[in-house]
Amino acid sequence: MRILFVTTEAVPFAKFGGLGDVSGTLPVELAKLGLDVSVVLPLYRHARANAERLEPTDLTISIPLGETPSAARVWRSNMPNSDVPIYFLEQNDLYDREEMYGLKGEEYEDNYRRFYFLNRGALELARALGIGFDVVHVNDWMTGLIPIYLKTIFKEDPYFKETVSVFTIHNLGNLGLISRKNFELMGLSGRPEVEEMALDGEICQLKGALIYSDVLNTVSRQYAKEVQTAEFGEGFEELLRSRSDDLFGILNGIDCSIWNPETDRLIPFNYAAENLSGKAACKAALQRENGLPERGDVPLLGIVCRLSEQKGLDMLVEVFEDFLALDVQLVLLGTGVPEYEDFLRDAAERYPTKLAANIKFDEPLSHRIEAGADIFLMPSRFEPCGLTQMISLKYGTVPVVRRTGGLADTITDYATTNLEEANGFSFNSMQGRDLLACTKRAISLYQDRAEWKRLMLNGMKQEWSWRKSAREYVKLYEHALSRKFAVMGPSNG
Ligand code: ADP
Ligand code: GLC
Repeated sequence: MRILFVTTEAVPFAKFGGLGDVSGTLPVELAKLGLDVSVVLPLYRHARANAERLEPTDLTISIPLGETPSAARVWRSNMPNSDVPIYFLEQNDLYDREEMYGLKGEEYEDNYRRFYFLNRGALELARALGIGFDVVHVNDWMTGLIPIYLKTIFKEDPYFKETVSVFTIHNLGNLGLISRKNFELMGLSGRPEVEEMALDGEICQLKGALIYSDVLNTVSRQYAKEVQTAEFGEGFEELLRSRSDDLFGILNGIDCSIWNPETDRLIPFNYAAENLSGKAACKAALQRENGLPERGDVPLLGIVCRLSEQKGLDMLVEVFEDFLALDVQLVLLGTGVPEYEDFLRDAAERYPTKLAANIKFDEPLSHRIEAGADIFLMPSRFEPCGLTQMISLKYGTVPVVRRTGGLADTITDYATTNLEEANGFSFNSMQGRDLLACTKRAISLYQDRAEWKRLMLNGMKQEWSWRKSAREYVKLYEHALSRKFAVMGPSNG
C-alpha cells in the first residue's frame, strides 16, 4: 500500500502541538508494518534549519496561484531513524517565516494561500514522482482541500483514479474559513461541491473535508463519539452523525524513542520503574531551575500546553488563589492567548515560591517538567486525544484531568474498582471548584507514599506506544480502499 501523508507539522522538522508529534512518528510506524509511505511538508524556515541531510531533488512543480503559476522546488530528507522520504515544498514567500501559523496568537492572513499551495502542491508532487498513491492521508483543515480535489479536478487523473482519502480530525475547533473571493484561487469556483462547503457566507475547508473524504477518523474513540453531539460537534454534529459509518476513533500513541525516562537525553537524570531515584533528582533540579524551594515533600504540579481556551485554563484561573493556598508548587510552560500569558506572569510575581510561569515554547523544558513533576494538570474543555497525559504516565507523573475525549480513554481514576488499572484522577464538570477538589484528592493520596507509587508504576508500565494504533490505521486504509472498490462494482474486478 502506498501512502502519501500530508501535514503542516512533523517532528523534528516543525512542531506547534500534538499534530507535530503524530506526524513525526505515525508514518515511520506505518513503514515498519510494510507500507510504502511518503510525507509532504512545507519548507518552513525552521524545517530547513532542523532537517538533517536536506537535499534538493531535480523536481520542480508548478502550482496555479492567482494569475500566474508559482513554482516550488522540491527538497527531500528522511524521517528520523528511517528511510521514509519526506518531501518539502519550497516557496519562500509563503514559508520562510518566523513561525508556522502566525505571530502572537494571530494567524497569518494569507494562511489560506499558504496551505492551498501545500494541498495542490502535494498532488502535483505525486504526479511528478510518477507514483499512484493508494491512500492520501491528510490532517485537519490545513490539508482538507485534498479530498475535494480528489473528487473534482483530479478525479479522472490516471495517478489518482484509485486513490482514497483519509482525513484525520485532530481538532474540530479550527474551521479553515475563507472568503469566497479568496477561494477563487483554489480553482474550484462554480463547482456544486463548493456550495456544500458554505458556512456563514464563507467557505469552510474543514466542512469540505468532512463531506468529501472517503473515511474520517479522530484521535480517540471517545472524541469520535463526542463530535457527533451538539456539545463537541462545533455545528458539524449532524454531518458527522450522517457519516458515522465512515467515522472511526484511533488513539494516538507516543514516540517512545523520544519520550522515555530511561533514555531521554533532555532530562538531567534517567530513571525507570525499577529505580525511581532519578525522578526525585529531576524534581529537585526542576525546582532549582525554576527558583522554587527545593522540597521533596511538596507535591510539584506541572502544566505544559498551548494556552488556549481548549485547555481549560479558565477553570484554573477561577480557583487560582485557593489553588495556590494549598501546599503545592506549580511549574507551567506554555504560550498562547495573551490574557492567559499576562495573568500567569503576574501570578508568578505574586507567588514566587509557589509558581513558575515559563511563557515560551521550549522543547527541552517540556521534557524536564514531564520528568520532574509529581502531578500533571490537564483540565481540558475538550481534548481530541492529548499526548502530554500519556507522556506523563510514561514518566511516572500522575495526571489530573477532565474526563473528556482522549483523556477519558487514557486516564483511569484512582476511585476505580480495578486498582491495577488506576493511573490518575479525573473530574467531569467544567467548574474550577471540581478541578480544585480533584487536585486535592490527588495531593492527599500523595502523602500515602505506597499508594502513590502504585499509581506511578501502573502508568509507567502501561503501553502508550504507537504499535497498536499504527495497525489500526492500516485497517482503516484497507477499509477505505475496500469500500471504494466495492462501490466501483464487479466490472472493475
Ligand atoms: P495539542 O496538540 O492540543 O497542543 P497534545 O497534548 O496532543 O496537545 O500535544 C501537545 C504537544 O506540544 C506535546 O508534545 C507538548 O509537550 C508540546 N507542547 C505544548 N506546549 C509546549 C511548549 N510551550 N513548549 C514545548 N512543548 C510544548
Ligand atoms: C490536537 C488535539 C490533541 C491531539 C493532537 C494530536 O491538536 O488538540 O488532543 O492529541 O491534535 O492528534
